[in-house]
Amino acid sequence: MPMGRMTLSKFLIENVGGTRDGAALAALLVDVAAAVKAIAALCSKGALSGATGSLDSINVQGETQKPLDVLSNNEFVNVFQMGGLVAGLASEEMDDPIPIEAPNRRGPFLAVFDPLDGSSNIDVNVSVGSIFSILHAPESGDTVAGDYLQPGQRQVAAGYALYGPATLMVLTVGSGTHGFTLDREVGNFVLTHPDIQIPADTSEFAINTSNERFWEPPVTRYVSECKAGKTGPRERDFNMRWIASMVAEVHRILMRGGIFMYPRDTKDPSKPGRLRLLYEANPMSFLVEQAGGVSSTGRERLLDLVPSQIHQRVPVILGSRNEVERLVRYHAEYDTGTDKPYESPLFSERGLYRS
Ligand code: AHG
Ligand code: MN
Ligand code: MN
Repeated sequence: MPMGRMTLSKFLIENVGGTRDGAALAALLVDVAAAVKAIAALCSKGALSGATGSLDSINVQGETQKPLDVLSNNEFVNVFQMGGLVAGLASEEMDDPIPIEAPNRRGPFLAVFDPLDGSSNIDVNVSVGSIFSILHAPESGDTVAGDYLQPGQRQVAAGYALYGPATLMVLTVGSGTHGFTLDREVGNFVLTHPDIQIPADTSEFAINTSNERFWEPPVTRYVSECKAGKTGPRERDFNMRWIASMVAEVHRILMRGGIFMYPRDTKDPSKPGRLRLLYEANPMSFLVEQAGGVSSTGRERLLDLVPSQIHQRVPVILGSRNEVERLVRYHAEYDTGTDKPYESPLFSERGLYRS
C-alpha cells in the first residue's frame, strides 16, 4: 500500500495490536475519529448550521458556552458511551466525569477531552480543534474522579483534531507522533504526516502579549530578548504568532517548529495558568515529546505533574527543544537570583524613551 493510502484504521491495527488492550485501543481511536468527522462536518457548515453565537449556559470553568461546544461534547459523549471501550469519560464542558453504567458496556480505558478548543474563533471562521487523552481505567469496580488524576506520562494515547482548511487528526500511542488528513469525499483519515519531528531550533514564538503585565520576570526576559531581535542578546530576528486556538498553535509547531507559552501569571491569583492539565496540557505535551520537543511548566516537566483536580489549570511552555530549555533555564536563574533581565537599549540610560 503506498504511504499516501495508509488509513487510520490500518495504521492502528498495525501499531497498537500487540500492546495491552491494543485491539480495544485501536477500536476506541476509530470511534474518536467518527466523532471528529461529525464535528468537522458541523464546523464546516459555519453560520449555515444555525449553531453560531453564544448560549446562556456557563461551564464549570466559568466560560460562556457556544452551541458548538455543546454539540461537539455530545458527539464525544455519544461515541464513548455507546462504544463499549471506556469505563468513564471527563470533559471540559462537564462539571463531573460520567461513569459508564449498564446497559452500556464498560471498556478498559478512560477518555478525557476538550471537545472544541479555541471556541472564541468559531464565529470568525478561524481554525478550531478537539483534544483528547486516553488513560487506563482501574481493573475493576466503579470509576471515581480520582481515577482520572494520573500524571500525563501514564497516558496510553493522545491526540487532537484540527478543523482548518483541511481536517487533520494528529495522534500518538507512545511510538511517535503521526498526522492523518481527512479525505472528505471518501470519509477516510489517511496518513499524510508520519513520524513528525519538531525542529530543535526556531525563530517563532507564540504568546498572548496582552497579558505581559501579569507575567513572571523570566517570561518577560525571554520575550523581550526575542522582540529585540538582531539588536538584542539573541542576535537574530524572531517572528510572533497568536491564533488563540491551542490546537492550531501546536499544529504549526509540529509542522515547522516554534515555542508556545501560556505561562503562569498573576491575572487571576486563583488560577496558576490558563490551560487545563488533563485535557489540554497533558495530551499536547505527550504529542510534543513524541515529536522530539519539550513541554514544561517552566519549572518541571509537564508530564510528571500529579493532578489534584479534573479541571486543574497549569502553566504551559512547549515546542522546539532549545527554546523551551532556554526559558526553563531563565526560570531557574530567576528562582536562584542569578538571572540577568534584559533591558532594551530604547529604555536604557542613553535610550530614546528614557523616563
Ligand atoms: P477553549 O476554547 O477550549 O476554552 O480553549 C481556549 C484556550 C486555548 O486554545 C488558547 O490557547 C487560549 O485558550 C486562548 O486564550 P486567550 O483568550 O487568552 O488568547
Ligand atoms: Mn481548549
Ligand atoms: Mn474547549
